[in-house]
Amino acid sequence: MTIRVRAFAKINLDLRVLHKRPDGFHELRTIFQTISLADTLVIEHERARRTEVSLDSSVDIPNNLVLRAAELVLAACRKTARVRFRLEKKIPMGGGLGGGSTDAAAVLLALPPLLGEALPVTELMTLGAELGSDVPFFLLGGTALGLGRGTELYPLPDLPRRAGLVVAPEVHVSTPEAYRALGRTLTSDAESSILNSFQALTWSVCVGDPAEAGAGFANDFEEVVFRQHPALKSLQAKLHQQGARPARLTGSGAALFGLWPSRTDAVRARGAFAGERVFPISLLGRRNYRAFWWKSLGGLVKNQLWPPRSQSGS
Ligand code: C5P
Repeated sequence: MTIRVRAFAKINLDLRVLHKRPDGFHELRTIFQTISLADTLVIEHERARRTEVSLDSSVDIPNNLVLRAAELVLAACRKTARVRFRLEKKIPMGGGLGGGSTDAAAVLLALPPLLGEALPVTELMTLGAELGSDVPFFLLGGTALGLGRGTELYPLPDLPRRAGLVVAPEVHVSTPEAYRALGRTLTSDAESSILNSFQALTWSVCVGDPAEAGAGFANDFEEVVFRQHPALKSLQAKLHQQGARPARLTGSGAALFGLWPSRTDAVRARGAFAGERVFPISLLGRRNYRAFWWKSLGGLVKNQLWPPRSQSGS
């Protein structure tokens, strides 16, 4: 049995880092958004007495989360199988676009129906959080509010389908170093003002005019990451000049995104980024995210049930 699924990237429309937590992670407030840029994952599955999991990837990735995700799913379903993955990477790595996380989440979503099983969303979320802070979001898709480590998620309404560009320069930003550079301690005096502006923004995304909310979007990493890589600040300025609203870093970078009201505006702006790695994107709402999944899994799953549930599974 072979299936082909798409693993979509994300941007952080907004990202605030509050304080350091006793577990070493940081307390976040973020708005995640899936976008049309995607990797493709082909999964071949055969019953077998002994588990054998292998991966053939267009880009060599050490400790690929795909294999770890598959092992977690097989253990949770108490199944053995031969599973072969072929990964065609399109999402730039280390860009803050969730490339590795979405590939792992794709395995968590696709493998149980292939095995004729169904794992409840709570169990998938636990497995996802074990793999990384961004993985659980991809189990849901669309626009979502992320709290805590980024693994506590609440749905926000789908935004209008806006078009944009992702600019992904060949600059490496280490996520743990970016967090360290923020210098957050266990408590923070600035917290209530960060929370107030995040609340105001979330309300305007939810019940106000999402286009207008664009002006209020922020990313706390920009200050420290732009200081270290001034070229990224220039790219942000260029996105602004081209009319992008908002134009921000995603995650801890190094990729930036800009959004425009229409595809024509985004396509026109692309010309200003000759020589850069640029991807035209559109925002991918939860309804479409899920519809893609049901379509890719075809007759294996019952439509309209989330997470995708095997026809035969309990
Ligand atoms: O969970 P993930 O593997 O994506 O996290 C990578 C690193 O980013 C962590 O080891 C930690 O240094 C930092 N991080 C953090 N607070 C978060 C998420 C990530 O400090 N909420």
